[in-house]
Amino acid sequence: MKTVLITGANRGVGLALVRQYAVDESDVIACCREPAKADELQDFAESSGGRVRIVQLDVGGPTSITALKSTLGDAPIDIVINNAGINGTPKDQSAARIDPENWVTTMRVNALGPILISQALIDNLKRGSEKKLVAISSAYGSSGKYFGEGYASASNRYAYRASKAALNNGMRGLARDWADDGVLVGILDPGFVRTGMAGESALGSSSSISPDESARGIKDRIRLLGPETSGVFQRFWGEPIPW
Ligand SMILES: NC(=O)c1ccc[n+]([C@@H]2O[C@H](COP(=O)([O-])OP(=O)(O)OC[C@H]3O[C@@H](n4cnc5c(N)ncnc54)[C@H](OP(=O)(O)O)[C@@H]3O)[C@@H](O)[C@H]2O)c1
Repeated sequence: MKTVLITGANRGVGLALVRQYAVDESDVIACCREPAKADELQDFAESSGGRVRIVQLDVGGPTSITALKSTLGDAPIDIVINNAGINGTPKDQSAARIDPENWVTTMRVNALGPILISQALIDNLKRGSEKKLVAISSAYGSSGKYFGEGYASASNRYAYRASKAALNNGMRGLARDWADDGVLVGILDPGFVRTGMAGESALGSSSSISPDESARGIKDRIRLLGPETSGVFQRFWGEPIPW
């Protein structure tokens, strides 16, 4: 039986991952910021026969991360999925307008949080049988893509894009530094997913996918994660993305 920890588990891609891992008979530690308001997750956990355990976690709060580690103790965890993320408010940050507070908050949640969580849980991962650490990133974190003509939608996302690039860089560092411990690191773009984050634009788009489709692809990538794909930035269907 596998144990999988997922952050941002109360909605969107995170909730779809919780459902799919639980159906596959994994034990799921479903982390969310406000468990009391996580109705869908609570309902699913109640019907899961004890397979889904909900734990409070604000990924932007180092004390919350320390509390998570105290709650989990030395329990082995096979897969840690850093999924929680934000667009930032305001979402638009451009060459003409940068909001410094927002930039820092976006960095704290999207880039720093996953690294601190990984550090806090490394011993739990090492005790697990799979030792897989995953970050749900975004193709917008690529500096080699989404540049120039045709990518206007990406041009006003300075804070978000910088945060995902920083996440990628940190995760690639962990892939190198923890390789000798057998830890494998997946860095995955989940696609253009119809969630709160993608908003209205995804609803009317033929290129958008459901949270379930995204979660299925992410799960496949994690299943196939090995030394050759550790530290590689990939689409949810496996295509590598340039840094
Ligand atoms: N949707 C897309 O098209 C798309 C594209 C590329 C990458 N991504 C990435 O995919 C991941 C999942 O996004 P999604 O589309 O499922 O978005 P979503 O529906 O907006 O869900 C975001 C999740 O992150 C959680 N979260 C935000 N800030 C948090 C914090 N400080 N502490 C703990 N949890 C926090 C949210 O919890 P609350 O309910 O408490 O806010 C929610 O569970 C994100 O990392 C995102 O950047 C998404």
